Amino acid sequence: MIKLIIDTDPGIDDAMAIFYAAAAPDIELLGLTTIFGNVTTEIATRNALRLLEMAELDLPVARGAEAPLILAPFAPSAYVHGDEGFGDIPAQTPRGNAIEEDAADFLIRMAREHRGELVLCPIGPLTNIALAIQRDPDFVKNVKRIVIMGGSLEEGGNITAHAEANIYHDPHAADVVFAAGGKVEMVGLDVTHRILCTKADFGAIAAQSPELGGVLQKMSEFYLAFYETVGKFDGCSLHDPAAVIACSHPQLFDRRKVAVKVACEGEALGATLIAGPSCRGEISVCMGVEAGGVKSLFLKRLALLP
Ligand code: BDR
Ligand code: CA
Repeated sequence: MIKLIIDTDPGIDDAMAIFYAAAAPDIELLGLTTIFGNVTTEIATRNALRLLEMAELDLPVARGAEAPLILAPFAPSAYVHGDEGFGDIPAQTPRGNAIEEDAADFLIRMAREHRGELVLCPIGPLTNIALAIQRDPDFVKNVKRIVIMGGSLEEGGNITAHAEANIYHDPHAADVVFAAGGKVEMVGLDVTHRILCTKADFGAIAAQSPELGGVLQKMSEFYLAFYETVGKFDGCSLHDPAAVIACSHPQLFDRRKVAVKVACEGEALGATLIAGPSCRGEISVCMGVEAGGVKSLFLKRLALLP
């Protein structure tokens, strides 16, 4: 059983990843931390609370940073995820509230309390994780793995020609995290662009899981429509669910060990680049995936939800 915390900017594929984790029998979800990206941190926190309530999970949500480490704040990606983060679904007020502790302090405490066991899965910009690393010199030592959805080694970008969105939205933070070396794993566009879900797939999920699967199906309409605007008619990428599945099923991915740095200025801003191994430790970068295996786990496990 994996002890997991997801750092998230929900977000349509974030919602898919969180519901997947809620359904997975091999994942013990310990809480969520929130970050800007697809939406503001305020909306991300509200959405994270709502997703847990929908899944009937009584778990802590810790609110994260409001802005990147160094760059100015930017407009959220409403054209991909909708103004409120869940496509055309209107904002809903959660019953509960975020805890008092901020995301970085919560992560530091949980990593200490579950020393050697905590798997952290950031599926948004990496600001909270960088802050945890900067605040606590033992943070990386205490966590088991940091499995990131973000970056692209050979695939090109999705928000610019060079950069993947989560890294682009706080490149300085991402560089701090990639510098942490060995425990960091990158699940980027090199693999997530190979894992696609169609309208028919979401229909099948909703047929088996009318409540929560039905919510994902509704959200997916907006997401699939965005993909079509960029000429992708064969489905949407399961970016964030792929990272959660890489936490529990590493055997479905082929990895390359390489040191990675992030371009923090210029045209390539946010690009993940190969660094000389002498500058920093190597991380594991997913370069191959058994896409059918990932997708079938996603479909099978979501079908278990009400
Ligand atoms: C990543 O960016 C966000 O839009 C998605 O939620 C995902 O985490 C994909 O580049
Ligand atoms: Ca995300």
